[in-house]
Amino acid sequence: MKFFVDTAEIDAIAELNDLGMVDGVTTNPSLILKSGRDILEVTKEICDLVDGPVSAEVVATKADDMIAEGRKLAEIAQNITVKLPLTWDGLKACKVLTGEGKMVNVTLCFSANQALIAAKAGATFISPFIGRLDDINLDGMDLIADIRTIYDNYGYETQILAASIRTPNHVLESARIGADVMTAPPEVIKKLAMHPLTDKGLETFLADWAKTGQKIL
Ligand code: E4P
Repeated sequence: MKFFVDTAEIDAIAELNDLGMVDGVTTNPSLILKSGRDILEVTKEICDLVDGPVSAEVVATKADDMIAEGRKLAEIAQNITVKLPLTWDGLKACKVLTGEGKMVNVTLCFSANQALIAAKAGATFISPFIGRLDDINLDGMDLIADIRTIYDNYGYETQILAASIRTPNHVLESARIGADVMTAPPEVIKKLAMHPLTDKGLETFLADWAKTGQKIL
């Protein structure tokens, strides 16, 4: 499973990237706001740091304007993925931009039919939002499973990018179902390494080691 990090915070991306944990980055207008940075500047810095796809989102709502914004964002670096909302205009822009050889991430996907039509429009990535479905008492994992089945039934190459991941269990379930990619905030990625029995076991080992009176270095 590829790991994308869902943030525009350079330090957090750099820390995970140094560990080889970053296969790509996703941003959105809310994350740009949170970073307090200029979108073009911070996105360029991220692209310089990370080799994999870096999603930068358009904010226009009409296809022609989305295409113009997408082309401008794509000029930032060769690894830019233009992020487009799953609207009819977004699908039109997806068709044009992928036709130009640009990577496109179709975002704000909340149904399997939306994912099907995004694949038909040539999307490189589809981003079903798990957490936001859970927020309204629907099962985000059912959506990931449906999209996996549909894409496999017909051999669509669009990659399933499990998004709006809030918990380690979201990562686990997405991996079980076979999402190609997951994007999560840095703090969720770090939680994947945690287990209370690891902490407890280490505590015991260190206490026993102290009793031996030995040193390794
Ligand atoms: C994905 O591309 C989005 O930026 C992100 O996963 C949204 O997550 P949220 O629903 O926690 O804001």
